Amino acid sequence: MWPADLSVPTSKLDVEAVVAHPWCGPAETHPRQYRGPHQLSRDGWTNFTERLERGEEISLVRALAAGRAHALDMGGGTGELTAAVAAHAGRCVAVEPHRDRVAVLDEMATGSAVEVHPGQAEALPFADRTFDFVLAAWVLPYAQDLQGALHEIARVCDNEDPDAAIVIIGGAPDNELVRLLNDVGIPVAGEEPDHQGFLLAEAARVFAEHGFSEFSLLRTESALHFRETSQYDRIAAAATTLADFWFEGHPRSAEIRRALEPALSEHFAHRPHAIGDQATVLVARPAGMARTRAGSLL
Ligand SMILES: C[S@@+](CC[C@H](N)C(=O)[O-])C[C@H]1O[C@@H](n2cnc3c(N)ncnc32)[C@H](O)[C@@H]1O
Repeated sequence: MWPADLSVPTSKLDVEAVVAHPWCGPAETHPRQYRGPHQLSRDGWTNFTERLERGEEISLVRALAAGRAHALDMGGGTGELTAAVAAHAGRCVAVEPHRDRVAVLDEMATGSAVEVHPGQAEALPFADRTFDFVLAAWVLPYAQDLQGALHEIARVCDNEDPDAAIVIIGGAPDNELVRLLNDVGIPVAGEEPDHQGFLLAEAARVFAEHGFSEFSLLRTESALHFRETSQYDRIAAAATTLADFWFEGHPRSAEIRRALEPALSEHFAHRPHAIGDQATVLVARPAGMARTRAGSLL
């Protein structure tokens, strides 16, 4: 379900309008500080991505990347979006801290327009203003130092190029997976809740300090699919997939898995074969200079 208030225009927003926008919040629900990083599982993520269908998100990334000369995909993961960017921009550099994922990216990069750098957002090995397009999709919740990562992302994007853009993809307020995480997983794990709208609002604040103060907000719908015929099998598969993705190796992961089962039973009663991974997409562009490119979305 989309947030009720769709009356707020979603392009040419200033930083205050982003912070207050229902797709990032709302602001009164933001925590006072970053809760710290989630641990991203090793194998759990593979099972998760095998069930994830995000055609709309990939199409949007392609459209936003089209015609860029020097793109950076921050936290490239296994390269699904890196490939989409590289196919539509002149070249795409992927930065990724996880050794196994760097190996997958390296394999993909062979003979393509992709270049891979092991590293992390908090310390980027690039000169100021190297890129005209920087993407960070589903990465901010894993940053050790959120502010440091955001300043680095803005530093390496060219705020003097009227075509430059920074694109951050994160969970929308109606994201069904984040809701299950917050309502069921996090209380058992004894952690602070996740607030992805807060991360997008923090991104807007930091980018505005670097001259990227013209914002747009977009939405995409993705979902994890569970095609098992019986509801019992779907609940079991979803409980394992989610517990492994969010809490692999956590001492209470078995308890979290059991706690997810009744919540998933309720969820599948309304949406029998999918759990939504709805995204809010923040696009930041240089203030006053941003020009609408031919055929561009923005
Ligand atoms: C949920 S995955 C998303 C991957 C990819 N962007 C996508 O949408 O398919 C998060 C990625 O961020 C990477 N990551 C974690 N901490 C990071 C950091 N501090 N800087 C950059 N990337 C990081 C992880 O290793 C992982 O590949």
